[in-house]
Amino acid sequence: MITPILLCGGSGTRLWPLSRKRFPKQFAQIAGDSSLFQQSAQRFQAAAFADPIIVTGDMFRFIATRQLAEAGIAHAAVLIEPDARNTAPAILAGALHAAKSNPTALVLVAPSDHLVPDVEGFRAAVEMGRPAAEAGQIVTFGIRPERPETGYGYIKIRSFDDALGAALVDRFIEKPDVEVAEQISSDGEHLWNAGIFLFRVDILRDAFAHHAPEVLECTQGALDTAEEDLGFLRLGTEAWKTCPDVSIDYAIMERADNLCVVPYDGAWSDLGEWNSVWRELHPNADGNSTSGPVEAIDCSGSLLRSESEGQVLVGLGLKDIMAVAMPDAVLVAPRDRAQDVGKAVAALKKAE
Ligand code: GDD
Ligand code: MG
Repeated sequence: MITPILLCGGSGTRLWPLSRKRFPKQFAQIAGDSSLFQQSAQRFQAAAFADPIIVTGDMFRFIATRQLAEAGIAHAAVLIEPDARNTAPAILAGALHAAKSNPTALVLVAPSDHLVPDVEGFRAAVEMGRPAAEAGQIVTFGIRPERPETGYGYIKIRSFDDALGAALVDRFIEKPDVEVAEQISSDGEHLWNAGIFLFRVDILRDAFAHHAPEVLECTQGALDTAEEDLGFLRLGTEAWKTCPDVSIDYAIMERADNLCVVPYDGAWSDLGEWNSVWRELHPNADGNSTSGPVEAIDCSGSLLRSESEGQVLVGLGLKDIMAVAMPDAVLVAPRDRAQDVGKAVAALKKAE
């Protein structure tokens, strides 16, 4: 069986003001009829998967368990990070926890900010990756690039390995700058990294021992000093405090030489910033995506979203604008500044 590790401790600042410090985007209902986290957890409710391990922050532990219960998921281990240290320590903590009951457990790391509409197709792709993962590869899932996206990792394919049933990887480039993204997104040799990883926990441990021993040391220390608390497993604060803030992509994927990739052709999107939401809500003939009580008059290429019942958001003559209204905060900006919303949130925080 494969143990899913669900990451849901990110802050999702680029989706402000829908995504908030105390209620980040993965718990919000952005597209579909449940939250992104619930959709992600339900993707692994199948015979091939064991009960999930959830890794999240202190502030989100009750939101996570309430949403799991709502989704009908009764059994899950919930690891609590004393504070967010990015995906490398979070994933490693989940993997080392899984290793306690099976030292060579196969785990699938899944973010909780994705839309993957074809659940069966996705599960089939995971099955395709299984032999390679069992043979000691770190398996990634690759999406054919649709645009020069700078918010994703890129995987350069070397050659397909018939014995493994996956393609070997030449190199992994995390979040390239615009020029590089423009070049590699259309050269036919690179795939987007879906941010989903399948591996044996002993193999990941070895990768950390080799490429990021400082992360292994503090994460192992935090797990060794973890305490049970109301059914949660709280990682030891002292050791966790010393963990570097680093993503798995920089810590391991850019450095490992046992990476392979299973191409995934089904629909996939990371709802990371407002343009991806605009795209996902299927813009009408004028290129407008709307939701909630909104009116778009003579608008084009715009996103209008109001989460505020009883307060109408009216756009008049807007072109390529995003306007998002919450009861207590409103964002209005050109859509081509969507990647900068996180910076605006950081500036707001400073001004507090
Ligand atoms: N528990 C925990 N703790 N979860 C975290 C933390 C943390 O400190 N930081 C982020 N996460 C969770 C987020 O909630 C999300 O579900 C997932 O980890 C991925 O983090 P993102 O911050 O959304 O990463 P990204 O989208 O910028 O980049 C990653 O995903 C892309 C595809 O979606 C990378 O793997 C890219 O290479 C990849 O292309
Ligand atoms: Mg993401």
